[in-house]
Amino acid sequence: MKMWPFLLLLVTLLLSTAATLPSEALNVRGHLLKSKTFLSPAIFLRPGSVSNKIYFDVAFPKGHIALKSFDAEVVDEHGVPVPLHETYLHHWVVEPYYIPKGADAAETKLSKIIPRRNSGVCKTTLGQYYGLGSETRHTATWVPDPYGIEVGDPVAPPEGHEEKQWLLNVFQIDVAKCTVSLKYLDWLLTMAHDLGCLFVQIEYQVEKCSSEDRAKNDCVHVQVAKQILPRGGDIVFGVAHQHSGGIGASLHGEDGRLLCESVATYGEGREAGNEEGYIVGMSTCYPKPGTVTVSDGEALTVVSNYSSERQHTGVMGLFYILVAEHEQQSQL
Ligand SMILES: *[C@@H]1O[C@H](CO)[C@@H](O)[C@H](O)[C@H]1NC(C)=O
Repeated sequence: MKMWPFLLLLVTLLLSTAATLPSEALNVRGHLLKSKTFLSPAIFLRPGSVSNKIYFDVAFPKGHIALKSFDAEVVDEHGVPVPLHETYLHHWVVEPYYIPKGADAAETKLSKIIPRRNSGVCKTTLGQYYGLGSETRHTATWVPDPYGIEVGDPVAPPEGHEEKQWLLNVFQIDVAKCTVSLKYLDWLLTMAHDLGCLFVQIEYQVEKCSSEDRAKNDCVHVQVAKQILPRGGDIVFGVAHQHSGGIGASLHGEDGRLLCESVATYGEGREAGNEEGYIVGMSTCYPKPGTVTVSDGEALTVVSNYSSERQHTGVMGLFYILVAEHEQQSQL
């Protein structure tokens, strides 16, 4: 038995080192940005095995708060980042969940809880609130001011339930420790809004390109899907999630206009954050509020491109967007 690293999930609790924050992070008009980091327990596994752990009642901040960012890191027992070719971080997902009132959080079983989903269209097929994969290290998650993702709204839980925070699911191959960190603010009535998830297909196959296509230098597999966005508003953030082989994805409005394009970055070396052959980051979109808008019920198109130089199985093409309602005038 060998000891494999941990996943470090960091939530920011006290105003942390300015150097690591985008400059706008410090300008939340006098409201104290807090952060908190959660270090998962160490997991012992044989090489090549897979770990899909769910931690309940993770010691993240509780209450009515506004999420500003989520970052994760896979580290060894000394806190040193572990490269993806040693421990592949397939995904990590954090979500609030509801439990029956009075139930003991520690004894609550998966069958008793109601996970809280984000308001995107993935929720029926993909148990998703918030999370990323191998691209974690170089993908911005900062929710631009004056917005925040709301959790812990006391009136939101279904009848007879209360909201618990947090559930963390870490899926790793050759497991390590994981840390996840979150930056947040106390909830302010005027902040908006929710994170939505869109997808081309939860899992699909990319066939190797034909010799004719190869001759034309056209070994790109394009998967397209339409999704109806129930509620419109201003897109203030967007990012795609793809697996190895992914080139990038784009999101388009009903008339074809480009709403956001998110492109994969591959590593070129051996060190953590720059692993050759792995997606180490996805570019993000931060449109100025009011410049990229979508309407209620608009049919959006998600386009996911993969290299078909070789076959890829079980790939994903997801798009996360943050949509702020038009009317919501922030007084932050
Ligand atoms: C996806 O592929 C199409 C067709 O090759 C191309 O026009 C588009 O720019 C690509 N988008 C991304 C994000 O790579």
